[in-house]
Order: sequence, then C-alpha cells, then structure tokens
Amino acid sequence: MVDIRAVRGALDNSVAEAVRALAARAHDADGVAPLSEQPLLWLADPAAPVAHLLVERPGGPEAPGGALVGYAQLDLGAPGAASAELVVDPAVRRRGIGRGLLGQAHALAESAGGLRVWAHGDLPPAQALARAAGMAPVRELWQMRLDLRTADPEPGAASSPQPPQMPDGVTVRTFVPGKDEDAWVALNARAFADHPEQGRLTRADLLAREAEPWFDPEGFWLAERDGRLLGSMWTKVAEPGVGEVYALGIDPDAQGLGLGGALTRLAVAALRERGLGAVELYTEGDNEPAIRTYARAGFTRSAVDVMYGTPALSARPVTR
Ligand SMILES: CC(C)(COP(=O)(O)OP(=O)(O)OC[C@H]1O[C@@H](n2cnc3c(N)ncnc32)[C@H](O)[C@@H]1OP(=O)(O)O)[C@@H](O)C(=O)NCCC(=O)NCCS
Repeated sequence: MVDIRAVRGALDNSVAEAVRALAARAHDADGVAPLSEQPLLWLADPAAPVAHLLVERPGGPEAPGGALVGYAQLDLGAPGAASAELVVDPAVRRRGIGRGLLGQAHALAESAGGLRVWAHGDLPPAQALARAAGMAPVRELWQMRLDLRTADPEPGAASSPQPPQMPDGVTVRTFVPGKDEDAWVALNARAFADHPEQGRLTRADLLAREAEPWFDPEGFWLAERDGRLLGSMWTKVAEPGVGEVYALGIDPDAQGLGLGGALTRLAVAALRERGLGAVELYTEGDNEPAIRTYARAGFTRSAVDVMYGTPALSARPVTR
C-alpha cells in the first residue's frame, strides 16, 4: 500500500524544490524529462487548476536522494478529462509506487470526466504501467528538430541579403512587453481554439513566462496587417546551443497565406544568426499543416510523447 499525500494549490517552496530534484534524477536516469514546462510552472502557482500527489519516504529530507520518491500532477481544468504527468524515483521503481499514483489519479479524475496521462518519450516502463492500468494511446506529441550545422541556410538567413518574403501587406515587429499581452492572448486563443493546453493560456500564464530567465522579446515576433495581429512566432533559448520554436500561431482568418512558413524561416534565420547548433519544436502528431510547414523548413521528427487514456476516451483531434 503506497502512502499518498494530496495537495491542492501551491506547494511549499521546499516541496516544489524536491519535485524539481526528483524530476532531474529521473531525467538523468531515463534521458527524458518526466515533467513538462507547464506542470513545473504550476508547482508554485496558488491559482493552478491542479492536484499534487506526493509519495514521501519515511526518514525525512535526510534520506538519500531526499524524502520525495514519487510525484504526480493532475490538471483538473483540461477539457474533457483530467490530464496527468507522473514520475517515480529511479532508485525505487517496480515497487508499486507508479501504480499507486496512477490509481489515485484515476480516482480524483472521475469527476473531471476521466484521466489521461503523458508518457514523455513513451519509454517501455511507462507503456507497461499505462497498459497494465487498461489505458491506450489517445494522442501523440512530436518533437521535431533541425540541425543548423548541416542544414543549408534558408533564403533570408544571416548569410543571405533577403529577409523572408511575407504575404502582401504583412509587416513584422517584435513583441513589446506591457503593451502586446492582450492582443497576443486573444490571437493565441483563436489560433489554438481546439488545443487542450495551448489555447487556454491566460494573460497571467503569459506574464509568468515573461518572468522566466529565458524570455527575450527580441525572439518573439508579431505579424500584422493594417494594425491587426494575424500571427506570432515565439522562440525560446533555454539550453546552450539549442533554440526552440516555442509557439507559432496564425489567426484562422489568415491561415493558408504562407505566413506560418515565412515566420518559421524568419525564426530559423534568427536562431542561426545567434550561432545556435539546432532548433527544436513540439507539434501534435495529427497536425498535418504544421508538420508540413516544419518539414518544408527542414525539420524532421526526433522524439514522440504519447498520451494514454482509458478506452472510453477516444482521441480528439487537436492542432498546434
Ligand atoms: C513509469 C513509472 C512512473 C513507473 O513507476 P513504478 O513505481 O516503477 O511502477 P510500478 O512499480 O507501480 O509498476 C506497476 C506496473 O507497471 C508495469 N511496469 C512498470 N515498470 C515496468 C518495467 N520497467 N518493465 C515492465 N513493466 C513495468 C508493470 O506492469 C508493473 O506491475 P508489476 O511490477 O506487478 O509487474 C516510472 O518508471 C517513471 O517514473 N518513469 C519516468 C516517467 C514516466 O515515464 N512517466 C509516465 C508514466 S505513464
């Protein structure tokens, strides 16, 4: 029997720090980070729509590796069904902790319409745990990557005199903090209306990201026509040598004009100019227009995250 402590709202700082350390130990052992960015930001957010499940080892923080050996976070605000991420300390796996956390998550998720759980990297233990709980894949998130050391510069790259060609009448400028938030949040909600996570981003979520050390408005572009925001390209450099296409969103009224491709070329050129070795991004595995756009810019699939759900939860098409 696994002893699980459930917490709503923000975790104490020391507990949040223990979750980050547990995630780092699992990342080292598995080669894949078990918790993604939003759950990490929600650890210390009192307004987060989540429940935290904690498995602590008797012996307190002095115990080797710290007191925390298992953690799950449930997003109870996700549309349709709660979604969870979970991690067990590599030193104490195959002792029923993962099964215990998943069972408790299922119980808490019942009133939210069911449970889905992310398996980052879709590693064999995660596949086995999810399948043993009667869950099956319902959604795939692709990571795509472009190696800038081998790829040919796109037209508009630093070595080329021409900036990428934008559709007629479209101008591009960088994001101005304190001024562009509301327009960007509205655009993001329209562009990602069908997306269970990205489309829910609020002004507070945007401000939380602006407060992160990696935030750089010089890598965050807005495309406008006649003063109206039509699209945005937000890049992030949080790892040495690697840039990320963090969020590319085009207003539904402006989709199909080639704006997404032009903004992708602009971002790749800017990241290349900064001397980075590679660019990564995440996209839904069934988002054909996005995958086509990125493939045309030279990106190829480099990893897959799989979301498992109970059989009653059918895959719902989502786009990013
Ligand atoms: C997946 C993970 C949470 C499992 O945690 P755990 O505490 O080791 O899992 P449990 O001991 O409760 O295992 C429960 C069942 O899952 C399956 N399972 C778990 N790990 C397995 C492995 N390495 N190989 C085969 N089956 C495995 C088995 O059916 C197991 O039951 P059994 O031991 O009676 O055969 C852990 O490996 C982990 O933290 N991985 C990295 C993060 C991750 O992938 N999270 C997503 C989870 S869907």
